[in-house]
Amino acid sequence: MQINNHQYQIQNIPVLEIAQQFGTPLYVYDADKIVEKINQLRGAFPQINLKIKFACKALTNISILKLMRQNGVEIDVVSPQELQLALHAGYEGSQVTFTPSGVSFDEIEAAVAVGSMINLDNLIVLEKFGQRYGGNVPCMIRIKPNVAAGGNAKIMTAHEGSKFGIDIRQREEILTIVNQYGINVVGLHQHTGSDIKEADAFVRAADVIFDFAQSFPNLQIIDLGGGFKVAYKKGDHITNMPELGAQLSEAFLNLSKKLGHELQLWFEPGKFLVSEAGLLLVQANVVKPAPSRTFVGVNSGLNHLIRPMMYDAYHHIVNVSNPEAEKTGVYDVVGYICETDTFAKDREINEVHEGDVLALLNAGAYGFTMSSHYNSRFRPAEVLVYQGKA
Ligand code: LLP
Repeated sequence: MQINNHQYQIQNIPVLEIAQQFGTPLYVYDADKIVEKINQLRGAFPQINLKIKFACKALTNISILKLMRQNGVEIDVVSPQELQLALHAGYEGSQVTFTPSGVSFDEIEAAVAVGSMINLDNLIVLEKFGQRYGGNVPCMIRIKPNVAAGGNAKIMTAHEGSKFGIDIRQREEILTIVNQYGINVVGLHQHTGSDIKEADAFVRAADVIFDFAQSFPNLQIIDLGGGFKVAYKKGDHITNMPELGAQLSEAFLNLSKKLGHELQLWFEPGKFLVSEAGLLLVQANVVKPAPSRTFVGVNSGLNHLIRPMMYDAYHHIVNVSNPEAEKTGVYDVVGYICETDTFAKDREINEVHEGDVLALLNAGAYGFTMSSHYNSRFRPAEVLVYQGKA
């Protein structure tokens, strides 16, 4: 979203017009931004055989999935329902990776049945996989490298106490099961967490995987998950992609040399691809002065965007109706849900009047997909701006 001709626009369409046409609350996504991010990620790994697998838990809108597919991005799913959505968007089963956490074996069988790659995340399921398929079905193993990184404790996944993956200290048990059943392990996977800004954390976690990879002479794939940090706030430190690309590429090419063949490097970003492309448009129902503060009550709430309440996440808010106001105010922007439901506290925003449309930025990832019908309210509609049309 940029300011052009004194108004906020996406691909030259005034955002206010979109709000008027479709109503609020409304999620709006910018296809150009998503394509820009795909190219940015590819551009960081020019020497590598790279595959991007969109972690669609971040945003499963069918038009977004089709956009990813058109741009050569494959897909990572975590449930049979996401798998169905991927197939519905036109993906072949073989382009889908299933990376579940502690699911029943029939979910794994269903994904194998459509030809998806499975990331096996515990020893029990690895053994069941061996008993059921022997060496007939290629698979990957999710390792927990015991590296703690991520924006907050709720979104870390690779530290010592985390439920995800098979602890690297169980490497001998993994190899025993793999050898016993002749399991065809073609890839190793790890995902460190979300909102990771230090390139160094990715490299430390990758080193653990690269080291273990040498136990699998026929390995084809290293999947390093997602977790790249985007800027939610001005001045936020973000993952430095060129630096990360350079550091990881070097270590990855060394591993390929050691194994004596070229490997594929996979990533599964969610936020990096779609966060900045999305915004949530809401309308001010009431501007409510109180002795200590002024509340702006909007026609949305934690039922539509739970990240502020769940993770204390910062989402920048702009007054789309008042882009160049001379006066600003300091507000608590709150939702209409019947419990404490705060989008922003003490936030300076261009002066807000009843009826103004506000945009919560960076809402493309884990916005709509984590929304609910709490208070029996509807979810927002979703609009994609694609080739200059909403
Ligand atoms: N791969 C795996 C196995 C994952 O568990 C995740 C996210 C990703 C990839 C993508 O991570 P990303 O690139 O989006 O950081 N709801 C939280 C984020 C939870 C992430 C869960 N796993 C939030 O809104 O911050």
